[in-house]
Amino acid sequence: MDLIQVDLKKCTKCGICSKVCSTGAIGMNEQGPMAVSQHCIACGHCVAICPMGALDNIKTPLANQILLEAAPVLDQDTAALFLRSRRSIREFQDKPVPREKIMQLLDIARFAQTSGNSQGVSYHVIDDRDILRGITAAFFDWLETALKTPLYAGSPYETSFSAHVANYRQNGVDVVLRDAPCLVIPIVEKRTLPTCRDNTLFTLAYAELFAPSIGLGTCISGFFNICAGSGYKPLLDILNLPVNMQVTARLMVGYPKYAYRRLVDRNPLKVTWR
Ligand SMILES: Cc1cc2nc3c(=O)[nH]c(=O)nc-3n(C[C@H](O)[C@H](O)[C@H](O)COP(=O)(O)O)c2cc1C
Repeated sequence: MDLIQVDLKKCTKCGICSKVCSTGAIGMNEQGPMAVSQHCIACGHCVAICPMGALDNIKTPLANQILLEAAPVLDQDTAALFLRSRRSIREFQDKPVPREKIMQLLDIARFAQTSGNSQGVSYHVIDDRDILRGITAAFFDWLETALKTPLYAGSPYETSFSAHVANYRQNGVDVVLRDAPCLVIPIVEKRTLPTCRDNTLFTLAYAELFAPSIGLGTCISGFFNICAGSGYKPLLDILNLPVNMQVTARLMVGYPKYAYRRLVDRNPLKVTWR
């Protein structure tokens, strides 16, 4: 079957489908659009852009695409406020997040842009408190040892990281997972690195921006990243992932304990022009 089917009664031969096709798989002739190659990344642009609903694509069937009368565009103040008011949440309520809510969150994350529409990010979610505590404990065991190695000994991080270890050992303070009730661990097939590592970051941005709409707060755990990235076996044993899968990030998720009252400033914008 051809990659695309065109309803010639509806098609006005405007050619937009061909112009937006990222792989050049759609060309135009006197009849209208036609597939000139089978290299389609299933981005759905051709189907989604057709003003007449005249084009179908076997990889992104028209019947599966939701009709959008007009994409909502936030006014600029609302959009700026929406983006600027996103905050990393480090204090969570002591209450579990229903799995349906996590699914809701991740079901938006999967719509983020990805390189060549490769997607490829799946999620390992841990909401078992004992496992989460085990991860934190493993992290601090790793950090304590790492602090004695050239990686951290004498580095600018040594003092603050040593203080984190001491605070955990003496007071149980968990700066790694912040006592979050849920940890989302994006994973990708190792053979898809580094592309899917980049994809992960965009999916997490979607999740972080969407989270407040369903009452959730999120925070990336870079600490955990360093430890898992080093291949620390006790941690990997806890995660128990298939050997072909690579952890690409981690996101703490929970109900925020506090609300932020101010927008914070950032470094001044730096732009160069030519
Ligand atoms: C790659 C990355 C790693 C991060 N790692 C941590 C972390 O380990 N612990 C933490 O509390 N916050 C972490 N954060 C959150 C940042 O500290 C936070 O984004 C920054 O301080 C700005 O605050 P905001 O997110 O509320 O705007 C991380 C953020 C990014 C993007």
